[in-house]
Amino acid sequence: MVINFLQEYFAKWGQQGMVDLKQELDQLLMLISGRCLIGKEVWKKIIDEFITLFNELINNGMCLTSLSEMLIEIVRLRKSYNCVEDDVLQNLIDSKYSDGRSTTEAEVVGLIISFLFAGKHTSTITSTWTGAHLLANARCLTSALEEQKQIIRKYGDHLDYNAFQEMDTLHYCIKEALRIHPPSPIFSRKVHKNFTVQTKDGNEYEIQRGHTIVSPVLFNCNLPHIYKGPDVYDPDRFGPGREEDRVGGKFAYTPFSGGRHACIGESYAYLQIKAIWSHLLRNFELKLESHFPETSWTKITSEPKGGVMVSYKKRQLLHTT
Ligand code: HEM
Repeated sequence: MVINFLQEYFAKWGQQGMVDLKQELDQLLMLISGRCLIGKEVWKKIIDEFITLFNELINNGMCLTSLSEMLIEIVRLRKSYNCVEDDVLQNLIDSKYSDGRSTTEAEVVGLIISFLFAGKHTSTITSTWTGAHLLANARCLTSALEEQKQIIRKYGDHLDYNAFQEMDTLHYCIKEALRIHPPSPIFSRKVHKNFTVQTKDGNEYEIQRGHTIVSPVLFNCNLPHIYKGPDVYDPDRFGPGREEDRVGGKFAYTPFSGGRHACIGESYAYLQIKAIWSHLLRNFELKLESHFPETSWTKITSEPKGGVMVSYKKRQLLHTT
């Protein structure tokens, strides 16, 4: 489904031109997230209004009621025409609790908004940073292209789940972009029972029940005793023989958080971003035309500041016939 979406979306680019990568990926991720979560016919009808409301929610924290009302309408419509679709909305509508109770409209709508909120913007930002780093770093770009050539030789144009699982180089490029730019730079937890923390220097701290503790992801992912040369974009640090995050311990790498409330969309997020970037690398010669973006800290998630201007020329990386 996502592969068809990519072909359809990037067909509008034509043979060559210049785009703001951040804007393009924002639109694309909205379409993919909407299609996978909410479904095709209804989605096509309401897409413009939905995008406006969702962006208002992200940027200004408003419009939650209008967005919920719109989604409740969709749930009712879906139930009324009694047709089974292949999307997350359908799964949530059909879900039952262990005591046999069905999900309510409010629960279905609440979960859909949470998934959109948790998954869409984070994936847009991460795919934009990954692209900016790849296009600014010739060595990484060459390795990523080489990997795509190998995958094309093995799988041709028919990318399935196994093919994406074999894209280790691209995986590490995304993982490293997330280490340097975690979309949620901190997360917090309420302490339910007293506990003691011991630092690596042997100091002990008593943490009291009732307090709120904060984990600075940005800081944790840049500790020089875990990540060698933490300011350098170096995807190989996750590869065989180094695996700096694993060597660093259980919570050394936390862009997807950790513990009971860690991200449940991690695997899907990697799959989605790999699908986008493998498509772009195979089908376009890309060049970063603007300066490497600074980070903007003004929104709920940290993201590239300003436009990320990229020129493109259509190509076929390797002929498959
Ligand atoms: C690069 C992409 C993503 C990043 C960096 C990311 C990051 C995170 C982080 C840091 C948390 C935990 C927040 C906390 O501990 O307070 C989280 C939770 C969550 N994420 Fe993601 N996420 C991504 C993509 C997705 C996607 C694609 C989905 C689903 C479609 C998703 C669904 C969720 C949900 C439902 C939670 C809440 C889990 C819970 O509270 O038990 N995320 N994510």
